[in-house]
Amino acid sequence: MALKVGVVGVNGIGKTHSGCYASDPLAKLVAVCDVVKQRADETAEKHKVKAYYRLKDMLDAHPDLDIVDVSTGGNENGGWHFEPAMEALNAGKHVLVEKPISNDINEARQMTALADAKDLYLGCNLNHYFTEVATKAKALMNDGRIGEQIFCLHRMGFVGGEFTYGGADTGPNVAGFPYFHVKAFLAHPFSIMRYFCGDITHVQAFMSRPSFRKKAGDVMVSINSIHVRFANGSIGYLFSQRGDATMGLGGWWSIEVGGTKGTFCIENCVEKLTFTSAPGAPGAADPSKLILGKSNEPEITNTGLTDFGLTFPTRIHAFLEDVTNNVPRHKLRASGRDALATLEYTFAAIESFEQDGIIVRPHPLPQLKRNPKTT
Ligand SMILES: NC(=O)c1ccc[n+]([C@@H]2O[C@H](COP(=O)([O-])OP(=O)(O)OC[C@H]3O[C@@H](n4cnc5c(N)ncnc54)[C@H](O)[C@@H]3O)[C@@H](O)[C@H]2O)c1
Repeated sequence: MALKVGVVGVNGIGKTHSGCYASDPLAKLVAVCDVVKQRADETAEKHKVKAYYRLKDMLDAHPDLDIVDVSTGGNENGGWHFEPAMEALNAGKHVLVEKPISNDINEARQMTALADAKDLYLGCNLNHYFTEVATKAKALMNDGRIGEQIFCLHRMGFVGGEFTYGGADTGPNVAGFPYFHVKAFLAHPFSIMRYFCGDITHVQAFMSRPSFRKKAGDVMVSINSIHVRFANGSIGYLFSQRGDATMGLGGWWSIEVGGTKGTFCIENCVEKLTFTSAPGAPGAADPSKLILGKSNEPEITNTGLTDFGLTFPTRIHAFLEDVTNNVPRHKLRASGRDALATLEYTFAAIESFEQDGIIVRPHPLPQLKRNPKTT
């Protein structure tokens, strides 16, 4: 039976989420809610569902809701996730929250703890790895074709430069928050790195902002150069930026994970996967036949896709599948705990930057809760 869903916060992303639920066979969009009446009314009208202006009213009117989707914004684009997510969890609803799980690490820890205590699903819209190419890359790893992991290089940032910069970011969620980009955006790249390479144990960060932002009076720390070590012993590097420069190799979103048996690269998030096996791997060139500096012929998957927007319905469908199938809580894909990990790394990076690049060990995650009945 389709899961009944109510969406809270329907301006930009909440409208996208509402559309995803409305067209997904696993869901029935029942209601939407926004404190701005006109926004709630417009989305409700579009999908022929009920509009509410307070979450409490939506919950009272629909006691049979299964899922509350929290697509609110707030300070640093995550400042208004805590109250509605906690209210929905306390009402016994499963929650899918937009990223970052919160802009406040203590709030994020409370959210995951409450979901655990209530034995409810708390998912986060870490949508960037819900793609065909990421799934194929993960399969390469699971099939042993990467081998022992050695490195992870990830670059992510909007296309841009000083010609496209529109002046100081003065929006209420942005102005006065130097770490807006860091908190709102790093959830994505950190989630990708962790998806492929596991937990991060050490973080060292250098951050900056280009002079054209400084001239415009914008205090946003928008360029992030972050060096990490993973629990599995491999090392990684993340370059993230907010449209301060256009990236060439791999486009706006690329990752390369290299191991003892092979290496994969994803370019432009949804577009292209390249796998190159190590010399001597089964089916690959004899190492003695390769001249210095030459690698094997790569296997290339070109999806023909360029639309990043496709990640939203795919990720939301995965959440609906997991809830429908009643998967063990610890198997939920892109869970609140996964999102908490990205925020712990983000706060570690901020601490490192503020202390001139010291190495910071992110706060450990809460124990992975397993249910003996379902494990
Ligand atoms: N996953 C992605 O790729 C992606 C991309 C962009 C933005 N986001 C995230 O999506 C979220 C929403 O972004 P946006 O640009 O749509 O934000 P927005 O500020 O434009 O819209 C949020 C809406 O929530 C409403 N709202 C806030 N608090 C509320 C409450 N307690 N009850 C009811 N309504 C409330 C506001 O009135 C507003 O209409 C942010 O967390 C942002 O970081 C994710």
